[in-house]
Amino acid sequence: MAREFILNKELVLGENALVEAGSKIKALGNKALIVTDKMMVQLGNVKKLTAVLDNINVVYEIFDGINGEPTDNMIAKGVEVYQNAECDFLISIGGGSPIDAMKAIGLMADYNGKITDFNGKIIEIKMPNMIAIPTTSGTGSETTQFTIITDEKSQVKMLLKGKVLMPTLAIVDPSFSITAPKSVTAATGLDALCHAIEAYTSRRSQYLSDTFALSAIKKIFDNIEVAYNDPTNVVARTQMAIASLEAGVAFNNASVTLIHGMSRPIGALFHVPHGISNAMLMNVCLTYALEGAMDKFANIAKTIGINSSSNEAAAKAFLDKLTELLANLKIPTLENYGINKDTFFNNIDKMATDAMASGSPSNTIKEITKEDIIDLYKNLWL
Ligand SMILES: NC(=O)c1ccc[n+]([C@@H]2O[C@H](COP(=O)([O-])OP(=O)(O)OC[C@H]3O[C@@H](n4cnc5c(N)ncnc54)[C@H](O)[C@@H]3O)[C@@H](O)[C@H]2O)c1
Ligand SMILES: [Fe+2]
Repeated sequence: MAREFILNKELVLGENALVEAGSKIKALGNKALIVTDKMMVQLGNVKKLTAVLDNINVVYEIFDGINGEPTDNMIAKGVEVYQNAECDFLISIGGGSPIDAMKAIGLMADYNGKITDFNGKIIEIKMPNMIAIPTTSGTGSETTQFTIITDEKSQVKMLLKGKVLMPTLAIVDPSFSITAPKSVTAATGLDALCHAIEAYTSRRSQYLSDTFALSAIKKIFDNIEVAYNDPTNVVARTQMAIASLEAGVAFNNASVTLIHGMSRPIGALFHVPHGISNAMLMNVCLTYALEGAMDKFANIAKTIGINSSSNEAAAKAFLDKLTELLANLKIPTLENYGINKDTFFNNIDKMATDAMASGSPSNTIKEITKEDIIDLYKNLWL
């Protein structure tokens, strides 16, 4: 069966990408809302962006209120600034949080209802132009048709979806990621690894998504520890930025599966950063998923240089290598992170319901039920 494959309209990747992209930015609007967080202001990244905008005579308003993973209330504040300043397009600079927030602000800019109205639907409304400049490697949000917004009332991390959420232009300059602290490098790099592995082993994988996914997996295994241990290593940072983009392209066209499905409820209820909650789940979820996709996991193993006598041995060797990587990157357990076991167990039923409702777990090749998910959440404490 033929399948559609979605990419950004335009993309500029490499050293000095922001300056190089000047004329493309100018073509997308007259007054920009810059969506960001206070850290980006402090690091001088927003200054680098406004210097480019000043140079090309594009005016702007800055909204630096995305301090944490985005919620419906943060989005409402951003929409107010966008409307009051009479902006006509958006630019986000930062990690996945400001990029996702930009998408949601753009979505709500001209819509009178609530953001929850879009949950569970394919979004098709007209959106302003959007430019994404990622500083983490990463969520891949610069190249995806998704935005993840927490509804504070129901404590659900909503997965909002639609081609209109794709940033019109992605500007990826790996040098922005050099200042990322170790914990952010580990969390975001492992998020990208989850995107690639889940896309490759998804029921919805396709030829081209497989190509992007395997390429990302190899780059991440080759470079994540270098970037973590030697943060200013430009070669490793560049490879991670490319890998994150490739992984984004892969899951944008093949979806994520079990890890992301189970991770969002942990993030919504216990405020564990997205990449960390994914990483906490990797072993338990992939051990479950292995049975349905032994050949695919064996291919992943081969891609990262593991040679084994059988698919099963290769797939298991891959999981061992992953366990070693998670330990080297100091990924905590739920308990070490400070989560109370009783509170977690009291919420397992809600988390399993919310995970299934997101649709992601059922993209796993091996059949999965709510009861399986409950067991997997419990296994995180073994
Ligand atoms: N839309 C998608 O397709 C998609 C995919 C995966 C994740 N997400 C979402 O993205 C969000 C997480 O994004 P994230 O993991 O990039 O983290 P983030 O944007 O929340 O940033 C984490 C922290 O790192 C800091 N930071 C970011 N870049 C930095 C840099 N270069 N130097 C120093 N500090 C830096 C930020 O200021 C923040 O304090 C979650 O809400 C998650 O659900 C979206
Ligand atoms: Fe993710």
